[in-house]
Amino acid sequence: MKVLVIGSGGREHAICASFRKSEKITGLYCADGNAGIAEIAECVPIKPDNIAELAKFAEENSIDLTFVGGETPLALGIVDEFEKRGLKIVGVSGQAARLEASKSFAKDFMVRHFIPTAHYKTAESPSEAIEILESGEFGDAENPVVVKADGLAAGKGVVVAQNRREAVAAINELKNLVGETAAGKIVLEECLFGKEVSLLLFADGKNFALMPPTRDHKRIGEGDTGANTGGMGTITDSAILGAKETAKVVEEIIVPTLEGAEKDGFPIRGILFLGLMMTKTGAKLIEYNVRFGDPETQAILIRLKTDLIDICEAIISGSLENTKIEWREGSSACVVLASKGYPQKAQTGDVISGLSEAEKLEGIEIFHAGTSRGENGEIVTSGGRVLGVSATAGNLQEALNKAYQAVEKISWNGMQYRRDIGK
Ligand SMILES: Nc1ncnc2c1ncn2[C@@H]1O[C@H](COP(=O)(O)OP(=O)(O)O)[C@@H](O)[C@H]1O
Ligand SMILES: [Mg+2]
Repeated sequence: MKVLVIGSGGREHAICASFRKSEKITGLYCADGNAGIAEIAECVPIKPDNIAELAKFAEENSIDLTFVGGETPLALGIVDEFEKRGLKIVGVSGQAARLEASKSFAKDFMVRHFIPTAHYKTAESPSEAIEILESGEFGDAENPVVVKADGLAAGKGVVVAQNRREAVAAINELKNLVGETAAGKIVLEECLFGKEVSLLLFADGKNFALMPPTRDHKRIGEGDTGANTGGMGTITDSAILGAKETAKVVEEIIVPTLEGAEKDGFPIRGILFLGLMMTKTGAKLIEYNVRFGDPETQAILIRLKTDLIDICEAIISGSLENTKIEWREGSSACVVLASKGYPQKAQTGDVISGLSEAEKLEGIEIFHAGTSRGENGEIVTSGGRVLGVSATAGNLQEALNKAYQAVEKISWNGMQYRRDIGK
């Protein structure tokens, strides 16, 4: 089978690596890839948002299956376009992608289908948002409140304001932060407290299969301090979400979501990612993503034992119910290595050393995000998040130990990472 993966980050490297393990693969392509992906797939210089060119490439090269990494092409309707041309593709439709692409759409959907989530209100303008706050709907001036840009903002559109003054500042700043389009509407939310869990699943429109629960580490600094990033590390471990809690999430969130989406006319066929807050009164849904997370994927897929092609075919044909999906026992960890200056202004072009030594260690897979080839063929940094060092083991502590042993072999000028992933 010839497979095309769309995207260029660590997530897509992990997806490509999973496909590479399949015996059914006869050709693997990635649009547009990075230096690590180029080792295992043929990189195609087409950007993920150029849907017409991607479809043309898939047709001309007889691609049997396309897998979409990120949200932008999904929101642009890549799946609808491929299906119209009779091309097989894994990902949600443009209609279903609104669950991620519009926070107000997602919140309205949750309420319509009785899915537990934070109280919210959507404002059409900054002045309306400030009026709502001043009405006292989200408590008095000292109450925390969450301010969100409605549209896609690559993780930069949310401010957890500690009080009304901070919230008003965030509302006024939102357009500058994420642009006019994404901040066209503003969602205000009650602030929830608890531990966060990311739970991902494969869905075929009706049936679903859970992946191991994960926890992300968003802040740049140890002890969850400093600026927000795309994610500095993840772990998977069964203790993150126990069996009882999982069963409740299935009953209160997952089943109503899949049934609600089908009823509303956009069945979810692809990957669904639930951002959950485990509050004192139970799990509440913070958000949906309609694709794999980055770096969650780098910790999840190294545990996947089942052929990813079989899962993709089950998603497309609606037969997930009859597909047994197996995971490696134990836990996993992914530690992200980032460039100097990230997340403000990442320095690029630094030569990375120690990669091959680190890769030789047992249970380790290294996924590239921002890398490219330098003039002499050496691997150099080319973005903020550069590598995801992933490890699997029988338990979380072992997985973390392995990952950090591998991290110690790698270095470049100004490399930064958190030493407290999974702690
Ligand atoms: N209602 C809420 N209460 C408390 N924290 C929240 C709430 N909504 C979002 N957050 C925090 O902000 C982060 C980002 O919000 P989210 O809705 O996931 O947006 P995105 O991932 O698109 O940036 C969450 O991971 C969580 O830490
Ligand atoms: Mg989120």
